Amino acid sequence: MSGLDGVVLHVHGPSTAADQLEAVKELYAEAFFPPPHNQGPVQLERMAESWPGRLTAPGFRLVVAEHEGKPIGCIYGHQLAVTTKWWQGAIDPISDEITREFEGRTLGVIDMMVRSEWRRHGVAQALHSHFLVDRSEERATLLVDPINTPARGAYSKWGYEVVGRIQPFPDMPKFEAMVKEL
Ligand SMILES: CC(C)(COP(=O)(O)OP(=O)(O)OC[C@H]1O[C@@H](n2cnc3c(N)ncnc32)[C@H](O)[C@@H]1OP(=O)(O)O)[C@@H](O)C(=O)NCCC(=O)NCCS
Repeated sequence: MSGLDGVVLHVHGPSTAADQLEAVKELYAEAFFPPPHNQGPVQLERMAESWPGRLTAPGFRLVVAEHEGKPIGCIYGHQLAVTTKWWQGAIDPISDEITREFEGRTLGVIDMMVRSEWRRHGVAQALHSHFLVDRSEERATLLVDPINTPARGAYSKWGYEVVGRIQPFPDMPKFEAMVKEL
């Protein structure tokens, strides 16, 4: 395979994303079970349980990349609610200007993953571009484990900047919170 030849991107809103959970679960297990991610069936189940709630969040979008009808990667996210807990667990204080949410201000990138044999072909870049097409939000944000070199490299390349460090729960990594102005 070379580059993105034969790769088809599907952009889903909530109505068609409901049927994509099995594909997302399969991709998630392959991407996040191996080290350094340290996730497993419990986290997978949590992701699946939260899926219906995610679909009802404003601005939900899922982009799936397929090759020969088989999912090879995806990205999904939605707007942060005004009452979001996203910014809780900051290791050092993050300014109010950054953490203050108002309706429709921020697009949260929840997960992004590409099958191992398809990495470094530009699939994530294509997924991310389609994820951001024609958005109304002021900014996009995500959390990344700084030891995750591929993801960290991708986000920097795509214009995200570190605004602080967040550990949402004690058993989770100390993530970098990154923001990209849209
Ligand atoms: C992170 C991930 C989605 C990147 O997918 P990908 O399709 O390989 O990424 P792309 O080919 O579009 O690369 C985009 C950029 O990311 C960076 N990048 C990707 N892989 C990299 C690596 N192994 N080392 C360093 N930088 C890397 C580069 O800047 C790259 O641009 P370049 O190829 O022009 O140098 C993929 O590695 C993955 O699924 N990892 C496991 C799941 C994960 O960690 N998800 C993110 C959670 S926050």
